[in-house]
Amino acid sequence: MKKILLPSMMLADFGNLKEEIKKLDEADVTGYHIDIMDGQFVPNFGMGLQDLEFIRSATDKPIDVHLMINTPDKYIDLFSNLGVNVIYIHPEADVHPTRTLQAIRDKGIKAGIAINPGTSVESIQPYLSIIDYIMVMTVNPGFAGQKYLDFVDEKIEILAQSTFKDKYEYELLVDGAISPEKVEKLHKKGVKGFVLGSSSLFGKDQSYKEIIQELKEL
Ligand code: DX5
Ligand code: ZN
Repeated sequence: MKKILLPSMMLADFGNLKEEIKKLDEADVTGYHIDIMDGQFVPNFGMGLQDLEFIRSATDKPIDVHLMINTPDKYIDLFSNLGVNVIYIHPEADVHPTRTLQAIRDKGIKAGIAINPGTSVESIQPYLSIIDYIMVMTVNPGFAGQKYLDFVDEKIEILAQSTFKDKYEYELLVDGAISPEKVEKLHKKGVKGFVLGSSSLFGKDQSYKEIIQELKEL
């Protein structure tokens, strides 16, 4: 199964963002992961709209927006007008996730849910038939460079089971402290997509091209 490999752009070198995107495009990443935060749902602020607009102008590859914000329903128009391809909301942050997910799809944008480490499969099962992607957070959202939370593996196994995944037709991704070892292990279990941050892609000695090539071959 071909992997979805998404650099977490809050870790990019913002002093050379255009060059970073050029190198990542040449490394043939699948698309870009943009973390948007409001300082309320998570105690941090991530990337800004100007960053998103710049990245959108600098690449033709898909852009996924990970909304770590309260009341994401209020901002679907805003983000869909910025030309993103996938919008992830946290159902924990939305009174009516079903309506918001439908609103995303009504804009012709793919809909995803990102779920916190403590959010159960049972609690999000109602949404599984109306999403294109589910992204399991393997760290507490809000910061890069954290440690992988092993207890989340159990939830990943359930969501990766073909009986589950095929029934609902979503693609499964993970986000947070994803190392090459995790990519190899979780891909074998049926995880398709990986957000690549400090544990696998940024701040390494190898070129992005070498790293991405190696991750593809795992
Ligand atoms: C955390 C973000 C992740 C994070 C990934 O809230 O959603 O995308 O930036 O970075 P690492 O891989 O360093 O955890
Ligand atoms: Zn993220």
